[in-house]
Amino acid sequence: MNIVLERQSRKPIYLQIRDRISHLIKSGALKAGDRLPSIRALAESLQVNKLTVIESYSVLEADGIISARQGSGYFVSTVIPACNNLKSTFAPAQNVMILESSSKCASFDTYTPLIHAQTQPGIINFGYGYPPPPKDINQIARRALKQEDADIYFPYDLPQGQINLCRQIAQMLVQQGLEVYPEDLIVTNGSQQGLSLAINYYLQPGDWVIVESPTYYGAISILENLGARIIGIPMTAEGMNLDLLEQYLHSHSPKLIYTITTFHNPTGLTTTQTHRQELLALAEKYECPILEDNAYEGLNFEPVPAPIKALDKHDLVTYLGTFSKTLLPGLRVGYMVVTGKHQPAMIERKFLHDIHTSSISQAIVSEYLASGHYRRHLNRLRTDNLQSRNAMLQALERYFPQEAKWTVPKGGLFLWVQLPDDIPMQTLRNEALAENVFLACRSAFFPDKQGYPAMRLTFRLPLEEIETGVAIVGKLLKKHIHKGVKSVANYHSLAHSI
Ligand SMILES: Cc1ncc(COP(=O)(O)O)c(C=O)c1O
Repeated sequence: MNIVLERQSRKPIYLQIRDRISHLIKSGALKAGDRLPSIRALAESLQVNKLTVIESYSVLEADGIISARQGSGYFVSTVIPACNNLKSTFAPAQNVMILESSSKCASFDTYTPLIHAQTQPGIINFGYGYPPPPKDINQIARRALKQEDADIYFPYDLPQGQINLCRQIAQMLVQQGLEVYPEDLIVTNGSQQGLSLAINYYLQPGDWVIVESPTYYGAISILENLGARIIGIPMTAEGMNLDLLEQYLHSHSPKLIYTITTFHNPTGLTTTQTHRQELLALAEKYECPILEDNAYEGLNFEPVPAPIKALDKHDLVTYLGTFSKTLLPGLRVGYMVVTGKHQPAMIERKFLHDIHTSSISQAIVSEYLASGHYRRHLNRLRTDNLQSRNAMLQALERYFPQEAKWTVPKGGLFLWVQLPDDIPMQTLRNEALAENVFLACRSAFFPDKQGYPAMRLTFRLPLEEIETGVAIVGKLLKKHIHKGVKSVANYHSLAHSI
């Protein structure tokens, strides 16, 4: 490998090595899967310290350009090319959904089978996606509790969370364009608790609330449980339909808008900066608070706009984040950004709910952030997830009928497939399960449990499972379509958005 170093240059040697290797990869001189020289060999040939090479390889690895294989050395990362159809063809036609009352707990009915499916041997679980635990998490956890002052984690603590962790989260959020003070943060038991606290703070039973349709079933359940009346505004490829939103802000005076702006659950879509500005402008005009759920933040393959909270000048937006999708859901550490007069009231609610989030879980997250491994871990996740997303797009092109339409997420963990009108979703789900494939289908994601036929597919799976699972579901779909199902085109002509 030809690397010429400029020893007089002000650019550090490790960065020169990084840039040269990066250039060799971009120019094609080094190809995906090629093995890089061992640390010792490269250090000797360049006459530099081994630590310098380790530093260069670490930065390249953190950027996802190379990857380490245990015991075998470093290799140029293999990137699966995306297929041609990168533009989302997702364009559902649907009406606004109104749910005035319900006793059903959609999320419990959906969550429990998902968790059971996860432990079933041999199952390909398209319904559930969470990150693989970081390899060094045990070490980090031990270190967090071994520190001399670890005793401080054992007694009761303040409800808003450990100040050190709040500072770290605030620093992390700045990188996403959201500048907040550590005092604006409340550490919660996952973002699910943040959702519950905020919904119960802003809404009374019988109040109208706006959600995207489809949306995260965990939010629908909290709203149902409270007795809120739900207005589901159709989700287009650009995000919530803003014309319809304005119509319903005007006619129903809702007390809250719930939105998932980035890698929306379940569609995987991300709204543009303009959409965010317009949504906030409408909320300001009708004085309706926004609950912005950003559970998938940090999992982007390309830059995404700053959250709506970053534009908020009137404390109208409550922001939710979590470490469940990037670190470990079992730690149950999430956070909310609450500003202005809402802050003390929300802290009081947090106290009433569970006093505070587990200090031990907070300490582990804090230690992970302090270790500097988090950035590298996130980069690795992004590279792996991009590979898996591309593998899934390729498999969908290959195996799914042309009547199916899907979204192309720029990050997150899943995409959304819209199916022809008459696909019998429950039958499809049972047939897939008989072949060891678990599907999360439409009903739970729509406020009225109906909606158009669709499924959410997690791409956070081994590549072979994606290929096998998509082939099985594609075969089943084609069988149903050949039985004479109406196409999506027909479906479009039957149902029009308001
Ligand atoms: C959009 C959204 N919000 C919130 C949550 C809750 O996550 P947690 O409580 O683990 O942070 C989830 C979990 O799937 C989600 O998808």
